[in-house]
Amino acid sequence: MSVNKEVKRITTHILQSMKVEGKKIAMLTAYDFSMARILDEAGVEVLLVGDSASNVMAGHETTLPITLDQMIYHASSVVRGVSRALVVVDLPFGSYQGNSRSALDASIRIMKESGAHAVKLEGGSEVAESIERIVKAGVPVMGHLGLTPQSIYQFGTYTVRAKEEAEAKKLKEDALLLQQIGCFSIVMEKIPANLAAEVTASLDIPTIGIGAGAKVDGQVLVTHDLLGITKDFKPRFLRRYLDLYSEILQATRSYISDVKSIEFPNDKEQY
Ligand code: KIV
Repeated sequence: MSVNKEVKRITTHILQSMKVEGKKIAMLTAYDFSMARILDEAGVEVLLVGDSASNVMAGHETTLPITLDQMIYHASSVVRGVSRALVVVDLPFGSYQGNSRSALDASIRIMKESGAHAVKLEGGSEVAESIERIVKAGVPVMGHLGLTPQSIYQFGTYTVRAKEEAEAKKLKEDALLLQQIGCFSIVMEKIPANLAAEVTASLDIPTIGIGAGAKVDGQVLVTHDLLGITKDFKPRFLRRYLDLYSEILQATRSYISDVKSIEFPNDKEQY
């Protein structure tokens, strides 16, 4: 599929019209300049500077340890690599749950210091006050419902969410609330496909699924998973397009071997 080069910048309004026109939205995570540049050139509409950086970049077990300063560092690197995609940045754990003033402060720091275009935060009615305050300040907010990894110690497991009626009901109500208070889009993570389809049909704003089936307005994956750089993470929803772990391993072994045998550098690779 060809990318529409006439669209200079993807905006929240363009994402909205994509939903109306039935065009699917492609979103991926990015944490650094070089990768962001490639993904942007490929034509993804949205790049998420996810707090999954805590896992795939920093090696933490959960997303909880990453700090606001670290998110801003990753976000500003991504922004420098992008000329078309909308850059959305996760508010890290602890920066918005406490009170709406600190949520606004964190969002303003992200927007001013990284040059990103929007923020994302996890949760429904519990964080509504924070979302309202951020939106009122003119900052676009993406919601995130279903499996919200910052609550992992409350969930106890990364299993599928909202399979039971009560949790599904709350998720549907939360989705409507997030739309009503001004979110421009909602990520739905690891929930039954039927529920995601129902929520998507009930909303005017676009939904982005990860492990939420095909009847949503767009899809997101962690880029390191899609490229096969991570190797032990194998949820059912993940499609790997490359096995970069093996490729990089092999290339590195070839380099080491060439260095040891003085095959590298050769006559043409020196001055
Ligand atoms: O942090 C992240 O990468 C995310 C996506 C999985 C949606 O929130």
